[in-house]
Amino acid sequence: MNRKKIAAGNWKMHKTFTEGQGLVQEIRTMAETELMNNAQLLIFPPYIHLQSLAKQLEGSNIGIGAQNIHQNEQGAYTGEISAAMLTSIGIHYTLVGHSERRQYYNETNESCAAKIVTALKHNIVPVYCIGETLAEREANQHFSIVETQLGALKGLSNEGITICIIAYEPVWAIGTGVTASSAQANEMHIHIRKVIAGLFTENVAQGISILYGGSVKPENAKELFAQSDIDGALIGGAALASRDFINIAKSF
Ligand code: PGA
Repeated sequence: MNRKKIAAGNWKMHKTFTEGQGLVQEIRTMAETELMNNAQLLIFPPYIHLQSLAKQLEGSNIGIGAQNIHQNEQGAYTGEISAAMLTSIGIHYTLVGHSERRQYYNETNESCAAKIVTALKHNIVPVYCIGETLAEREANQHFSIVETQLGALKGLSNEGITICIIAYEPVWAIGTGVTASSAQANEMHIHIRKVIAGLFTENVAQGISILYGGSVKPENAKELFAQSDIDGALIGGAALASRDFINIAKSF
């Protein structure tokens, strides 16, 4: 199965307005002059960048998305951003359920399920982030934790799930410099595909892109991408430097 190859950068809470513009300009230039494979680049900057970067990236193949979305259509939710607001400025991707949002903002599998439904309803591609903590891995619960998190996709139609992207990010590998070994990551990606086949169909499972995230760098990307079931990466720290981000994308 020829799945889409994706290098996605999650800027988290980094980059001022002008810094963001500069970084994207560098990424665009390098992508256009150096990136000869068919990797899809996605950038998830803080909200304040979305409108200007979407404009800056017009005519390029680089996609841009939000780091979060609210599950409700509108209302008294101070500090939140709706799906319609995102599409009104041309944004059609969003992260859902990043582990930092689960940890610091109490996001649950239930709220993620609602966010995914809302995103799809508005033609926004959700990148659904899942992954176990170190304690859960040490207790040998990692497969069941991930299976429970994938339960958030249960109510979707085959058409809906086909639009989604999954990002497996073991919490113990995020921002720590510790990467899951390529074998550990691939083992989990195979498990994720099996769970999705059980919830939907084998065909759906074979077609969905599953990204790995957690200390991905130019030095380890090639080995990760060579694995049978790793279709790309969700990149934090290394996505803040244009050279590293592009070198990772060149590693497919
Ligand atoms: P990292 O972050 O690459 O800095 O580990 C990945 C992520 O949180 O998406």
